[in-house]
Amino acid sequence: MKRLQRLRATAALRDLVSEVGFGRAQLVQPLFVVEGLSAPEAVPGLGDNHRLPLARLGERVARDLEAGVRQFMLFAVPAAKQAGGFDPAFAGRAIETVMARSGGRATLWVDTCLCSHTASGHCCLHDARGRQDLPGTLAELAKLARAYADAGADGIAPSDMNDGRVAHLRAALDAAGHGLVPIMSYSSKFASGFYGPFRVAADSAPQHGDRRGYQLDVRSARDAYAASVRCAEEGADLLMVKPGMSSIDLIAGIGARTGLPVGAYQVSGEYAGLTLLAREGLADFDAALLESWYVMRRAGAAFIVTYGARLAGALGLP
Ligand code: PBG
Repeated sequence: MKRLQRLRATAALRDLVSEVGFGRAQLVQPLFVVEGLSAPEAVPGLGDNHRLPLARLGERVARDLEAGVRQFMLFAVPAAKQAGGFDPAFAGRAIETVMARSGGRATLWVDTCLCSHTASGHCCLHDARGRQDLPGTLAELAKLARAYADAGADGIAPSDMNDGRVAHLRAALDAAGHGLVPIMSYSSKFASGFYGPFRVAADSAPQHGDRRGYQLDVRSARDAYAASVRCAEEGADLLMVKPGMSSIDLIAGIGARTGLPVGAYQVSGEYAGLTLLAREGLADFDAALLESWYVMRRAGAAFIVTYGARLAGALGLP
């Protein structure tokens, strides 16, 4: 009889035929640092992920390095909300803080977007008539990215989904002498109902309308492929699907079309889904978290951005 069960009998046999060996080296830990905060603030559903004052960022990074985190994604939230002319100074100080602590032991990616800066909460600027101001948006993004790289960031991660941003950022970085700073593009990013805890953390909820004019429609895989292919053509080094768990069907196809590594961002709502299930006694958190990572890896994710990266060592990942 064909007994597929035979190779499932022991842990050693299951390990032998597992197709998804991965560890902490493939996980990226987000960090939220908020200007003007005096004490850390919890973010609903995100467990041990807090909004941090700048003064507490260094110790958080030190503990994470101790736990084996090797990749960080920084979200720097400025105090001022403006219409334009954004100031990268606070993010610059945060970047310097992380770099001083990690001293080359970790890679620092900096999320590059406008939604924490704009009074509108949108990822782009608007002109007087309320239309998207694309040239103005790209100029602001490029200014921020350049400042982040100047401050020492290892990589730039544009999450805004505005047309042409990767080419624009690549040119700006190259012109500023940052030709070796890689771009991790949030290349297939959907308008999603799963970003709720993040918008609390980053203070970035849209004040009018929604993001469907620039983020992808979940009903179209064609557009999702086109968006990632274009990021690759424009010079992105790494691509990403987001939300990760609900986009696993796209990962292999994007990789095949572009030849680039494709990561998955397990977004705040997806992660909160696990913490809330566990809180209700409806799931074993550790097991569910590991399962979710394995599934993204099985689908072909080269790396995973996850609020649980700092827990991976305790979960037994190498
Ligand atoms: C900023 C940005 C968002 C996320 C990452 N970068 C929010 C959004 O686009 O609304 C979401 C991350 C998460 O939910 O964990 N543009």
